[in-house]
Amino acid sequence: MLGIDALAPTTGQQVLDIGCGTGLNFSLLQQRVGTSGAIVGIDRSAEMLHQARRRAQARGWNNVILLQADMVLLDPGTIAARIQESGGAAASDAALATYSLSLMGDWQQAWTNMNRLLSADARIGVVDMQDPVGWARWFTPLARLACAAGGSDITAAPWQAVEERCVDVMRASARGGHLQIRAGKRTDNE
Ligand SMILES: C[S@@+](CC[C@H](N)C(=O)[O-])C[C@H]1O[C@@H](n2cnc3c(N)ncnc32)[C@H](O)[C@@H]1O
Repeated sequence: MLGIDALAPTTGQQVLDIGCGTGLNFSLLQQRVGTSGAIVGIDRSAEMLHQARRRAQARGWNNVILLQADMVLLDPGTIAARIQESGGAAASDAALATYSLSLMGDWQQAWTNMNRLLSADARIGVVDMQDPVGWARWFTPLARLACAAGGSDITAAPWQAVEERCVDVMRASARGGHLQIRAGKRTDNE
């Protein structure tokens, strides 16, 4: 929710959902992009994509393209061609990564690959986790346990890429700083 607010996709845009999982972001993204827009969900897990596909079919969303690929290993040219074959545009207008980059190991490579699937002035939104701060630091062991159980690296801090490589950056945090939200306009033209 906070990530989509910060990303602020608009009607008609095509949004990449990186590590889309079961498609929990889709409903709010649909409200933003409308039927003239599109959502491209990329995930490495066939099981997650199966759930995402069921969600899209149940809601009658015909503008959702789902692709199975590893964001670290994929070839952006091949993925762009697959998006076009599915009726989408090769370059998307925005990208969202919620709780996914910190799971990807070499998330910097995933960031680079994601950028190669975006238009020059696209916006990028990242929501991910870090150790809680302030009063909430007492929950640090719990937060670390939850992240470790889910396979994510609580020290990854992938939103730093938005800070360092985007402009017009929106910043927010939640749950005692445990959730970090950033969105900005890309400047990478790799
Ligand atoms: C914690 S879930 C988050 C799902 C969704 N973004 C959300 O907010 O509900 C992380 C997702 O990232 C996917 N994932 C992890 N590593 C990946 C990679 N290297 N490439 C693509 N997807 C990946 C997982 O399969 C999983 O579906």
